[in-house]
Amino acid sequence: MNLTIVGTGYVGLVSGACFSEMGNNVTCIDIDEKKVDDLKNGVIPIFEPGLESMVKLNVENESLHFSTKLNDGLINAEIVFIAVGTPMGEDGSADLQYVLGVAKQLGKEMQRPLIVVDKSTVPVGTGDKVKVVIQKELDKRKKKIEFHVVSNPEFLKEGAAVQDFMKPDRIVIGADNDDAFKKMKALYSPFTHNHDRIITMDIRSAEMTKYVANAMLATKISFMNEIANICELVDADVNQVRIGIGSDSRIGYSFIYPGSGYGGSCFPKDVKALQKMAEDKGYKAALISSVERVNDLQKLVIANKVIKRFGNDLTGKTFALWGLAFKPGTDDMREAPSIYIVNELVKRGANINAYDPKAMQEAKSFYLKDIKEVNYFNSKYETLQNADALLLLTEWKEFRSPDFDELNMQMKNPIIFDGRNQYSNLKLENRGFEYYQIGKNSEPINE
Ligand SMILES: NC(=O)c1ccc[n+]([C@@H]2O[C@H](COP(=O)([O-])OP(=O)(O)OC[C@H]3O[C@@H](n4cnc5c(N)ncnc54)[C@H](O)[C@@H]3O)[C@@H](O)[C@H]2O)c1
Repeated sequence: MNLTIVGTGYVGLVSGACFSEMGNNVTCIDIDEKKVDDLKNGVIPIFEPGLESMVKLNVENESLHFSTKLNDGLINAEIVFIAVGTPMGEDGSADLQYVLGVAKQLGKEMQRPLIVVDKSTVPVGTGDKVKVVIQKELDKRKKKIEFHVVSNPEFLKEGAAVQDFMKPDRIVIGADNDDAFKKMKALYSPFTHNHDRIITMDIRSAEMTKYVANAMLATKISFMNEIANICELVDADVNQVRIGIGSDSRIGYSFIYPGSGYGGSCFPKDVKALQKMAEDKGYKAALISSVERVNDLQKLVIANKVIKRFGNDLTGKTFALWGLAFKPGTDDMREAPSIYIVNELVKRGANINAYDPKAMQEAKSFYLKDIKEVNYFNSKYETLQNADALLLLTEWKEFRSPDFDELNMQMKNPIIFDGRNQYSNLKLENRGFEYYQIGKNSEPINE
């Protein structure tokens, strides 16, 4: 099939690469000229395991193309995906200006029947809005061109996006037209080889499904973080509690690790947008707003432990920081706990020696750009010299078994604050480190 993907970010680029990998002819459109130029020259703007080789291969095969002009993608396209950003607006709702901007442009430029797919995460009712905007433009042009709007929310996880797209748990398709369902099913059939993973429903329910999935996962995280904080106060071990409750098949082990709170491009804004959707209908979503509140506080738990240990004034203190990305496997720093922790410590006079395997460029050029107290190093051990403590913030594999002798030799004090998920527990075994974690060890321990 001939496909066009509008918006070549995490979702658009991964979708485009995977669809082309399955034999479709795909054109990815983006308004960011540098991004498109880079992609044409084989430079991949984001880090995502397996993505670079897939993009390069399909560009070489001439089944994946990039352009800044929507028209280039509309000549042959049967299906157009809208995969632009839906950032948080000032009032907490999803900002639909990019989605509706693309809809308008489609109405202005489409020449042949189209299926228009909302892949961006959009509030319930957006499908209707997209339809109205396209129709209005067609009416202005006095053109009668058949089109159908479909909702096909994306569930990929950054850090495993290619794998998730190629082997999805489910593919949700919301539509109100049989031909649209048929075409979408045909497009996705290569991804559901051994059993059918396509779930069809109406458009509004498909839009809602995405928000509910993210809100449920965010709720699990905040719930477990709150439990971790209570465990710490009553001197129970949250890790043992986790294993104890996970064994109940109604609860399960996944997504119940306490940590420094959720970040990234999706959970924070989607939880907020769901709250706003409810509020607009006169309903106060008490549980969902608490999920967000717990998360905001959780991002500062590790900073608070540092302050408790070293005092309010951190002037002259240097902290080595391993991990800037909001999770491993990505260079994405949107809403990462590291941003909040760095700001909190620097505000009190600290210097930060930072290292991340993938996200340092993001930090330098955007998220921590104005903070001159942050120095960046090319390896994790280089950050340690004269460090008063080490802060571990992202669950990158390379941080799991560090060389403790090296740590001991380089650091001023053998002190570690571990803000990662509990499964990343360091095995310190009588090495004389003070080790602080989420949910336990408020006081120094000497193992
Ligand atoms: N990132 C994720 O893990 C993820 C997962 C599932 C769903 N989503 C949702 O998918 C959507 C996209 O997210 P993302 O992370 O890929 O965003 P992103 O910011 O990485 O990419 C969006 C891209 O759209 C481009 N763009 C904006 N307006 C455009 C226009 N008019 N024409 C062409 N291109 C335009 C931007 O330049 C940018 O490159 C969001 O709604 C998000 O919530 C994201």
